[in-house]
Amino acid sequence: MKRFYLDHNATTPVLPEALEAALPHLTRHFGNSSSFHWAGSVAREAVDTAREQVAALLCAAREEIIFTSGGTEGNNLALKGVLEAQGGERRHLVISAAEHASVFEAARHLEAQGARLTIVPVDGAGRVSAEAVAAAITPDTALVCIHHANNETGTLQPVEAIGRACRERGVPFHTDAVQAAGRIPLDLRALPVDLLSLSGHKMGGMKGAGVLYARAGAPLVRQTDGGPQERRRRAGTENVAALVALGVASRVALEALPTEPLRLCALRDRLWEGVRARVPDAVRSGDAAHCLPNTLNVRFPGADGETLLMGLDLEGVAASAGSACSTGSLEPSRVLLAMGLDRNEARASIRFSLGPESTDEDVERVIDLLPPLVAGAREAAQAAGGPEASRL
Ligand SMILES: Cc1ncc(COP(=O)(O)O)c(C=O)c1O
Repeated sequence: MKRFYLDHNATTPVLPEALEAALPHLTRHFGNSSSFHWAGSVAREAVDTAREQVAALLCAAREEIIFTSGGTEGNNLALKGVLEAQGGERRHLVISAAEHASVFEAARHLEAQGARLTIVPVDGAGRVSAEAVAAAITPDTALVCIHHANNETGTLQPVEAIGRACRERGVPFHTDAVQAAGRIPLDLRALPVDLLSLSGHKMGGMKGAGVLYARAGAPLVRQTDGGPQERRRRAGTENVAALVALGVASRVALEALPTEPLRLCALRDRLWEGVRARVPDAVRSGDAAHCLPNTLNVRFPGADGETLLMGLDLEGVAASAGSACSTGSLEPSRVLLAMGLDRNEARASIRFSLGPESTDEDVERVIDLLPPLVAGAREAAQAAGGPEASRL
């Protein structure tokens, strides 16, 4: 059976170029990049090259790139490291209600340890208002942390306006750009962001590598103690092969930025038009005017999304109910609930996320498959008393 992968916000296939570059670092180039000898220098050069490639993607300086194990670590390091760096006086954190679990849970952890947490609501499209974020800032605010692009809906946040508001008030601003990096242009010379996280496996690299960008002078205390790697901001031997893959993926993404977002937008829009034509009461969630090119979150009122996803999977189509991290959770999506959807509506939602290898064929396949699957998922949910009741 032919397989169709429309879940790139969960993870992406490793780009052939990235894999090819990484492989020698799993075999003959096995050195530790901190070692002085020949084996170490090969690894060190590879890590340096990767750093330059990621810095180029972000229009940042090499020294501002801290390699991590991925988005979760970058987000944890930003929240915990910035709060710790500011001592006991500034213990207030501002996040949005639609943050990824790696921000949300880190913030809750800090709150349990005595930090004050403000969670700014999102509107029906999943966007925060920059004014509401600015209004939440107080003299003891240590950090504002608002994601760039939402993993479930693709909604883009007004990061530029938020960053300006933070600058005016002298408060560091971190953005989780795990879903945005490599998919839309990010120019940190112009964007008023102090810290930014990204993840290799969301952009054609390998799992286990990511970046926390920290603008020169940003307050940050490392959260892993140990060796002096990453300019003493993140201890631990680097995952050289995965960093090499991340570097190449950054280069490829940068080259593709003039064309690939437009191609994906057209594919995504075709998917939505096709779905809407065949299932007229389908509803799109998120902000169509401010959206990642590759993401479409759709709700099929009265259907159970999980049933729908299982039906798609049996036909070889991989899509998702939202965050891969909450798959298997009995709770409906926290992000969709924060947007004002009720539990039945959140349960009836599924996400399609496209990537570099997505084609018309993927999209047309989904458009053809959905009508009978939606009808079946509706019947099943109705028999159980609604999508929510079908889970109880
Ligand atoms: C917005 C966002 N932030 C952070 C992460 C975590 O990244 P990683 O899987 O690299 O830990 C994800 C992954 O789903 C994400 O979508």
